[in-house]
Amino acid sequence: MRVQGVVRPPGDKSISHRAVMLAALARGTSELQGLLTGADVKSSARVLRQLGADITSIRDGVKVIVHASRITHPASRLNCGNSGTTARLMLGILAGQRFAATLTGDASLRRRPMRRVTEPLRAMGARIQEKGGDALPLTIRGGRLRPLTYTTPVASAQIKSALLLAGLTGSVGVTIREPYRSRDHTERLFVHLGLSLHERDGAITYEPPERRAVVPSFRLSVPGDASSAAFLVAAAALAEAGELVIENVGVNPTRTGFLVVLERMGAHVERVNLRDEGGEPVADLVARPAALRGTEVSAAEVPTLVDEVPVLAVLASRAAERSETVFREVGELRVKESNRLELIAANLRAVGVQAEARGNDLFVCGTTHPPRGRVDTARDHRLAMAFAVLGTVPGAEVRLSEQASVAISYPQFFRDLKRIGETGKGKRER
Ligand code: S3P
Repeated sequence: MRVQGVVRPPGDKSISHRAVMLAALARGTSELQGLLTGADVKSSARVLRQLGADITSIRDGVKVIVHASRITHPASRLNCGNSGTTARLMLGILAGQRFAATLTGDASLRRRPMRRVTEPLRAMGARIQEKGGDALPLTIRGGRLRPLTYTTPVASAQIKSALLLAGLTGSVGVTIREPYRSRDHTERLFVHLGLSLHERDGAITYEPPERRAVVPSFRLSVPGDASSAAFLVAAAALAEAGELVIENVGVNPTRTGFLVVLERMGAHVERVNLRDEGGEPVADLVARPAALRGTEVSAAEVPTLVDEVPVLAVLASRAAERSETVFREVGELRVKESNRLELIAANLRAVGVQAEARGNDLFVCGTTHPPRGRVDTARDHRLAMAFAVLGTVPGAEVRLSEQASVAISYPQFFRDLKRIGETGKGKRER
């Protein structure tokens, strides 16, 4: 494939969730531009509307307006769909409310662990009733909270953000330490909105004001999603010729481990036109084809590229013949939208690549043979997109079990993949 042109990835999923949630808590009318129109952000908006928030519809190219409203008791269960971020961050928001609410989600989300969030929220004083063990559905009754100092067992921005949001809505101090730094969009948005948050010696502290904090209304232009851009960068790296410009990409260093690893693998991605958007660094990326080699991704790097492991593994499979890539300590991938750790390895094997999950490490061996076979996406958007990119290499015959899951984070993915190259493959199985 030859890549060419200029493309804009959709709005950042993580920032979109946080923006819509904080706007719903704000006093006054907020205006959000460039919000992701994917299903996950719509899940957050739907849940917030059930709680009384007034949010206009989320559509491409349309500014979303969030009017001041009071969060109130919902009439029915809050369905978080496929979105772990919705479920976990909303638990934090609900911990500070004096009513009970039940959260649930789709089959994938109902398999994902929630105690990582409910345990510290319980320690703050939220009452949480589980219906089926460490998973949704569960009922939370918030109210008077106690301050919390907590070290998270895993580096997870969802845990950290839930606790900061509980501190905000419950008006109590929260100090969090994490084993490695996870994405810091919540911290940046708090600071951008003038909420009292600081970081000292690796500990993040939210300190409530004397009287209940007021979240001011705000205007925000959401940068493009670095995780979505990663698929486009990968397609350019695997191309035979050309150059691709990917505009308006969030380049927050807690999200760009992908670019660091890619550099070690032999692909240089230029960042041009660096700017700031609501406290977040943004740039345009220029990506080109590259001859790749294997590398080792350390445990400390994983939080900065946790959603990019599927596409990095696909790139590793196209590294020089027999050159090995190892991803250390990626056990968290077992509890994402699917068991990504096992499925990355199994799907790579299914298309003729040597790959294996050993303990919590993932090993992938490079090959120049064209990938051929059927890929089970398990309806996981990032698996579908990663293997669709693999389907663009010369001679590839990669059949995906489905394509619809891309609507979670990148509804226009297949249109964009087709546009940037001449062969946009990754056909759906018939
Ligand atoms: C997210 C954090 C990450 C990531 C997810 C979005 C967020 O999960 O995988 O897609 O918006 O906070 P963890 O924080 O659980 O690693």
